[in-house]
Amino acid sequence: MEYLKYSIEDSTIAELLGVQNFSNDEAAVLELVKNAYDANALIVTLDFIDKTTLKITDNGDGMDSEDIKKYWMHIGKSNKGYNLIDTNNNVRVQAGAKGVGRFALSRLGKNIQLYSKKMEKDGVVWKTDWNKSTLDSDSSIENKGTCIVINNLREKWTLRRVEKLNKYLEKTYNDTAMKIRIIANEYDEFVRPHFPKPEPGKNCRANIVLKYNKGILSVSLLLDEFDSYEAIKYCPEMDLKTFNSEVNIFDEFEGNEIVEMEGEELASLLEKLGDFSANLLFNLNATKQDKEKFLYKYLSTGESVDSGVILYRNAFSISSFEGEKDWLGLGKRTRKSPAAASHPTGAWRVRENQISGYVLIDKKKI
Ligand SMILES: Nc1ncnc2c1ncn2[C@@H]1O[C@H](COP(=O)(O)OP(=O)(O)OP(=O)(O)O)[C@@H](O)[C@H]1O
Ligand SMILES: [Mg+2]
Repeated sequence: MEYLKYSIEDSTIAELLGVQNFSNDEAAVLELVKNAYDANALIVTLDFIDKTTLKITDNGDGMDSEDIKKYWMHIGKSNKGYNLIDTNNNVRVQAGAKGVGRFALSRLGKNIQLYSKKMEKDGVVWKTDWNKSTLDSDSSIENKGTCIVINNLREKWTLRRVEKLNKYLEKTYNDTAMKIRIIANEYDEFVRPHFPKPEPGKNCRANIVLKYNKGILSVSLLLDEFDSYEAIKYCPEMDLKTFNSEVNIFDEFEGNEIVEMEGEELASLLEKLGDFSANLLFNLNATKQDKEKFLYKYLSTGESVDSGVILYRNAFSISSFEGEKDWLGLGKRTRKSPAAASHPTGAWRVRENQISGYVLIDKKKI
């Protein structure tokens, strides 16, 4: 018997795993940012040198010639584990898993030069035009880290596009362990955290914090929604500013008409549900009539936060759960139960454009 290995043209891999594999160029840049994060970098700089060249520099661990041959040139196998402690003593859960992310480079440009250096090792330079790749040593590289120069960019990166990239990275990266800097001539900005600190009354009417741990969901709310002087007359027993509760999710779901599951079927589904947390901001713009009718404190809060809920797995969002799509099905729920807030059953549902924030899940610990 003979063992066989596939051999494949470099240009075919580049086309399939790069050009066709990404929905847009921003997502391709994100893949390279993830690699810098995984390499322990404290900062990654995206420098649009001119309309045809992008230079991505990180001060991470870098690669030597062995790493290039063993990992960089090995498709479909990642050498990444679960987490690492970075030089600032922050825990990072590595984002890489598939061993294909670097082909984002082929989506972005036609010629690549990669300069890399590991501590105490000689620097290397790897080049490709997606037909042939070469590796050389390069003694002129002084500091550890990786610098990738993408020439012949396929897209035109105008200033507007660069600003859009910043917004995209702001949404898709949710950590402070590594800074992301974007330069394009005069433009020089760090990517900032997307969500402000929730402050009821300032940027939301309510801040909802959820934590799910082994079957128990704890909920805590901070509210500044109602004119407390007036509203308290109607519900003197209630605390209108805070609410805390803990529910056993099995009891909550059993017999629930939306879940449509019970007993063992429900238990085995919940068994698979990993821990998660969420931090959500509830907001709405009320009309003058509604403000009076529902005893709201404000027509609207001074600042508003982009609507949409982003799903993060550790430091990075999961592609296509970046707030645009109503993946929580809030709209569907509202359409099923379109009652107004004044409805006596209390069956009013939060609208999808009234919630923003994030849900955090963890890459599975093995
Ligand atoms: N900036 C970098 N610094 C150091 N090593 C890197 C860097 N970028 C890539 N590498 C190395 O090249 C390998 C291939 O990267 P690639 O992004 O293709 O795969 P991955 O990150 O392991 O998995 P995924 O496909 O999920 O991103 C990495 O596993 C890592 O060893
Ligand atoms: Mg990667």
